[in-house]
Amino acid sequence: MSDSSNEVGGGFFSKLAAELFGSPLNLALLGICGFLIYKIISSRRTSEPSAAKEPELPPLKKQDFTLEQLREYDGKGKEGRILIAVNGKVFDVTKGKRFYGPGGPYGLFSGRDASRALATFSLSEDSLRDEYDDLSDLNSMQMESVREWEMQFTEKYVYIGKLLKPGEQPADYTDTEDEGSDERRQADKKSN
Ligand code: HEM
Repeated sequence: MSDSSNEVGGGFFSKLAAELFGSPLNLALLGICGFLIYKIISSRRTSEPSAAKEPELPPLKKQDFTLEQLREYDGKGKEGRILIAVNGKVFDVTKGKRFYGPGGPYGLFSGRDASRALATFSLSEDSLRDEYDDLSDLNSMQMESVREWEMQFTEKYVYIGKLLKPGEQPADYTDTEDEGSDERRQADKKSN
């Protein structure tokens, strides 16, 4: 009796192990997950003690960015500021630098439009385009996923402006400056 129940349990676990370790693709995915968890845990350990000492950067004024302008904010500049675009919106994610800073698990997104990578759950450089990406080939599930990521970023980070399409002119936000920075301060407070 007990032998057969052991067999059932053993059978399940050995099947699971065979499934996980038997295919090179599953092994690679397991490896990537393990690596990301390791990176997130180790960045948490190293960034926490210094976080209190580091002064927060002054908020950026509301403005729109071309892809090229966005790339200057990859966390490697003097200020260390990091911007990321998601679904046409540019966010200041500097406070999430343990994720997006140099060496962080999602460092490849810094200064880039991360929409395609987030939509396709990919950490490959191929999903970060050098040209403007209109995402028109993504399916409805992937577009839904981009919108969910956009909501998540809106809740957590400060919205700075739009990602400009080729030839699109930046908006003039001088009149709305006070209102805009007020809103952004509130969003920042809420997410802190
Ligand atoms: C496959 C294994 C993966 C694991 C185990 C994993 C794990 C995690 C964990 C634990 C967090 C939350 C960290 C925290 O709040 O302290 C996180 C956040 C995040 N992950 Fe992953 N992740 C994986 C894959 C991916 C992929 C493929 C992408 C993108 C294509 C991605 C993008 C993100 C982003 C953008 C955040 C949010 C960071 C923020 O709050 O700004 N992850 N991940």
